[in-house]
Amino acid sequence: MSQQVLILPGDGIGPEIVVEAQKVLDVVNSKFNLGLVCDEALVGGAAYDEFGSPLPESTLAKAQAADAILLGAVGGPKWDNLEDRELRPEKGLLGLRSGLELFGNLRPAILYPQLAAASSLKPEVVSGLDILIVRELTGGIYFGQPRGIRTLENGEREGFNTYVYSESEIRRIARVAFESARKRNKKLCSVDKANVLEVTVLWREVLEQMAPEYPDVELSHMYVDNAAMQLVRAPKQFDVMVTGNMFGDILSDAAAMLTGSIGMLPSASLDKNNKGMYEPCHGSAPDIAGQGIANPLATILSAAMMLRYSLNHAQAADAIEAAVSDVLDQGLRTADIYSEGTHKVSTQHMGEAVVAALQKG
Ligand code: NAI
Ligand code: MG
Repeated sequence: MSQQVLILPGDGIGPEIVVEAQKVLDVVNSKFNLGLVCDEALVGGAAYDEFGSPLPESTLAKAQAADAILLGAVGGPKWDNLEDRELRPEKGLLGLRSGLELFGNLRPAILYPQLAAASSLKPEVVSGLDILIVRELTGGIYFGQPRGIRTLENGEREGFNTYVYSESEIRRIARVAFESARKRNKKLCSVDKANVLEVTVLWREVLEQMAPEYPDVELSHMYVDNAAMQLVRAPKQFDVMVTGNMFGDILSDAAAMLTGSIGMLPSASLDKNNKGMYEPCHGSAPDIAGQGIANPLATILSAAMMLRYSLNHAQAADAIEAAVSDVLDQGLRTADIYSEGTHKVSTQHMGEAVVAALQKG
């Protein structure tokens, strides 16, 4: 039976980078006889401009029907001042994440040896870095109710949000993390603030309860402030990290920068059946949109993750990752990862180089 892939280019650099990933998918599709059937729909600013909504019902319906989704990026100054905040492009993304219950966000941070000079950390601290941050994506303080800004009796205003996780929400993200650790180097560090926040006392308890089911995985706990410090002090001590929505947002961006470029980092957001949405970690880069200079590799690597995690085509995923490594070996670099002595190439050139590497491999 064929597998349905929904492509959501989005806006900004989204369409430019997604078109390159699509070329790569087309090649592996025929090379490995995958039987993927791709469809496309609008989301974010592009959908707002066409339909007046960042997540039209037709797009959500297609996303629900698909086996996996590949997304570019959304957002930009063009839509930042929309009166109704619900119509902003980013709401399209949040709507997809919550509408599809994509609670498990996997964000690898890998330092390619060819790009070691791009990291802000010393080579001995960071060379060979390969960690995975598992972030809860549909709960916690970003979604907790009640929330808002209210006026007190004395006329002063106060803003408030609610940090809440149920045991079942913790259990399902912990399961993703334990399983991921099992497939990697079998070390899981859970990050919380259990010295201050009750919600994370429960978080810690639930992980401890589950640990006996994974005797092969070494579980540890760390407070988030220390985790932030350790990530820049000695990041290679980690294998898999698991944490809630807000801490994960911050830590995964920090981890991303250890690798030198946000243009290289893919991500996956999974539901309980491993159906997922795959997208680069970066945004729509409005500052460079339309110039043909964006790095398409994060999106191409997201397509590889999609093949691996949702569509069970590990061999095709390996081939894409090897092709990416090959083009880096050839010295091809988009502007964001360029350094002296390498060859600066356009978005399209980079995409086509990956295609060529795949065809020869
Ligand atoms: P951004 O990730 O779009 O850009 C940050 C910086 O990195 C910019 O200088 C940009 O040119 C550069 N950059 C990003 N991706 C690149 C690539 N593939 N190749 C080369 N350079 C790249 O983050 P920013 O500027 O904070 O946000 C811009 C817009 O994107 C905002 O509207 C924001 O809300 C949205 N956004 C969307 C996300 C998504 O669609 N998942 C995630 C983050 C932000
Ligand atoms: Mg973020």
